[in-house]
Amino acid sequence: MALLKVLLLLGLGVSVNSAVSLQKRIIGGHDCADTERQYHVRLEGSNGTHMSLCGGSLIHPNWILTTDTCWKSETGWINVAKIDVHQGPGRWRAFRLRNNPVVYNPEGWRHDIMLLKIKKVANAPLGQLPDCSYRLKIGDTVQLAGEGATTTGPNNEQISNFAPATHLQCVDMPVVEASHFLPTYGRVFSAKARNKDVCYGDAGSAAVFNGKIYGVISPGVPRYACESAASIVDVCEYMEWIRARTGLK
Ligand SMILES: *[C@@H]1O[C@H](CO)[C@@H](O)[C@H](O)[C@H]1NC(C)=O
Repeated sequence: MALLKVLLLLGLGVSVNSAVSLQKRIIGGHDCADTERQYHVRLEGSNGTHMSLCGGSLIHPNWILTTDTCWKSETGWINVAKIDVHQGPGRWRAFRLRNNPVVYNPEGWRHDIMLLKIKKVANAPLGQLPDCSYRLKIGDTVQLAGEGATTTGPNNEQISNFAPATHLQCVDMPVVEASHFLPTYGRVFSAKARNKDVCYGDAGSAAVFNGKIYGVISPGVPRYACESAASIVDVCEYMEWIRARTGLK
């Protein structure tokens, strides 16, 4: 299990890098409305020659909820969070992330969920955590989103000019598998729809139901990402941990 996770992480490293150069992003989606997802955070890693892209959600003035591979820990990498990225061009505020991420690993391996602590952000819209008295069922429609890159390098070649989608993309997809345990990922549900999908740069973004964050898009198995059902971390299964770490009620 541990080995599989390592393989997935290695694979993802490659995939994330190519996310900036491939046409891999929310597939079959549309521009999110300007009024929705104002808590969406863009997470960028860079080491001078390469960049990585992820999504996240500001759930507290000090905390971003995302997935566990959205932190570049290798030497030379700088991790930055851009808040208000969805408020329009030039409106975002960038924060260099310096604190180590808070990971969920009570069994000794990391589930695909992570909290990043940032300097307190004033006047930023916060995402709502789920109402877990209702749990997602097969057939419920969740809205996924992301800013996967839109630029393509020839032959999937990595390019240093980083261009996320010009507008946050949203897509509605039905839940096809309710909450279950998936080794090396954690507690997840999955969503799938014809000609619609999420892809590398979308990992970490919220899956929204009834205006609340019920899920965090998992990085998935790189080889099959963008081709199979999207695995989404079931936030309700981690609420106790989220509350304990962030102080949220
Ligand atoms: C940045 O990371 C990539 C991928 O890990 C690596 O190939 C490249 O050499 C790194 N660049 C620098 C300047 O360290």
